[in-house]
Amino acid sequence: MNPALAELHDKARAVLDPVHYDFFAGGVGDEVVLAENEAAFRSLALLPRVLRGGKIGTDFPVLISPTAFHKLAHPDGELATARAADGTVVVSSMASTVPIADVVAAATGPVWFQLYVQPDMAVTEELVRRAERAGCAALVVTADSPVFGRHRRDIEHGFHDLPAGLAAENMRDLAGVAGPRDIAMSADVSWEHIGRLRGMTSLPVWVKGVLHPADAVLAVEHGVAGIVVSNHGGRQLDLVPASLDALPAVADAVAGRVPVVLDGGVRSGGDIAIALALGATAVGIGRPVLWGLAADGEAGVRRVLDVLRDEFLHVLTMCGGVLSRDMVVHRGFRC
Ligand code: FNR
Repeated sequence: MNPALAELHDKARAVLDPVHYDFFAGGVGDEVVLAENEAAFRSLALLPRVLRGGKIGTDFPVLISPTAFHKLAHPDGELATARAADGTVVVSSMASTVPIADVVAAATGPVWFQLYVQPDMAVTEELVRRAERAGCAALVVTADSPVFGRHRRDIEHGFHDLPAGLAAENMRDLAGVAGPRDIAMSADVSWEHIGRLRGMTSLPVWVKGVLHPADAVLAVEHGVAGIVVSNHGGRQLDLVPASLDALPAVADAVAGRVPVVLDGGVRSGGDIAIALALGATAVGIGRPVLWGLAADGEAGVRRVLDVLRDEFLHVLTMCGGVLSRDMVVHRGFRC
């Protein structure tokens, strides 16, 4: 991990209620996938190209992945995250502790709305309308959650509910129910719902949580605007591969037809470079944003993004400004 990010993580752990720290940090089951997401990057090396000359681009191919309940990290919650993003795309969780309209109002750049399709399609449609009215630029449908993941740390702590005064604000006053309603996961959600959502809105519809290349092909066939290769930061099924290990086959299956974002375990500028070399268009970051937010609010999130931007451009320059699959090898390989 980048040392500045490690420092923010340590500070976050020191200031957070240990139950909330574990909610953010933890994964599902034995946390095998949680560890592997980061380890997958460490198992790879970059073979730079040299003497290429020319100007290095300054694009910063990073999105803020959707994570729930930012007010558990900092009283300003998602408002601080949105302000800090400063042009970086914020994918705002449906489970945010600030309503989506306020998140968009606080942001200076694009905000996308992450959606769990609700079994009651009237509720789903109202959520989509809220996102549209707020001015969101895309919908990101999370597909890897037919049921809630079983997070051992939360179970051990008996952590089920938000503290008094906090709520999933987007779930308030929907479809005739006063006050916030619970977010439901549904195993009935299918590709047909992607079609229904596309019919319901002119917003681009992304799908998040794809690991199998055949699902990536189906996603493209169903007209998605982009795919997020993700295992939910090791929080859904503890038997899946590291998301980085799933990336090359998905990128091959998609073959450039739509953008492919990778999230899970990205902790440095070098990690961003490796993901791009393996076929990602951009990466999403989850926990590092939460550590920055908990450690220092808006300034902490800004620091996370600044550190990653600076380090990524440094690595990219070291690599001659281009990244391609042939430049990634396993550590210990012999030429
Ligand atoms: C998440 N993630 C997530 N994803 C989603 O689609 N909707 C959500 O509400 C949440 N909530 C959430 C809460 C917390 C505490 C974490 C850590 C993660 C998953 C998230 O979008 C992303 O896929 C991972 O966090 C990426 O992995 P890293 O960067 O945390 O390793």
